[in-house]
Amino acid sequence: MSAAGSSESDAVPTDALTIRAPGPDDAGRLFEIERACFPDPWPAHSFVELCDGSRSDCWVAELGGRVVGYWVGRRVQDEADLANFAVAPESRGKGIGRALLDDFIKTVGGYGRTVIYLEVRESNVAALALYRAFGFEEVGRRKAYYTKPTEDALVMARPAGRKG
Ligand SMILES: CC(C)(COP(=O)(O)OP(=O)(O)OC[C@H]1O[C@@H](n2cnc3c(N)ncnc32)[C@H](O)[C@@H]1OP(=O)(O)O)[C@@H](O)C(=O)NCCC(=O)NCCS
Repeated sequence: MSAAGSSESDAVPTDALTIRAPGPDDAGRLFEIERACFPDPWPAHSFVELCDGSRSDCWVAELGGRVVGYWVGRRVQDEADLANFAVAPESRGKGIGRALLDDFIKTVGGYGRTVIYLEVRESNVAALALYRAFGFEEVGRRKAYYTKPTEDALVMARPAGRKG
């Protein structure tokens, strides 16, 4: 379990946010957030599989009894990839994204991974600011990686196992 660490005045109180493993009942809510966040969402069955209790690479943020965000990671050899990451639109700007990203970095560091990668739309100002604040640096570009609209992805990386 982790808590939001923002010092902003509108930040979620540190004892109010829980980050926990998802269960089967969470799949519908995760898909709802996914569709609200991305023009090219993952399909519903991906969230059913992530919430079936057999995997440890998806964690959800819960506030006031409601799931408000999630991260999904992938592990490949000694690397980790932030495969998906979102906060529900109505819950943004409260430090939840920061808390989830901090949780992801700590979790994959605990698995002994050495490098963390992620892809992000180059127009995604909010995510880019957050990733840079956590020490991610641009290491590449994937042309036309995204659809709806077509857009390049920036590939970012940072060492695993330390914060910021
Ligand atoms: C990116 C996202 C997860 C941030 O979640 P959030 O809960 O609003 O983020 P936080 O409140 O924890 O903000 C943390 C930092 O992110 C950055 N940030 C967040 N929203 C921002 C905005 N609208 N503009 C610029 N920077 C922003 C800031 O650096 C902020 O730190 P600060 O409050 O000290 O300025 C959220 O906007 C989101 O879900 N977006 C849609 C899905 C998405 O793009 N996921 C990433 C895919 S690569």
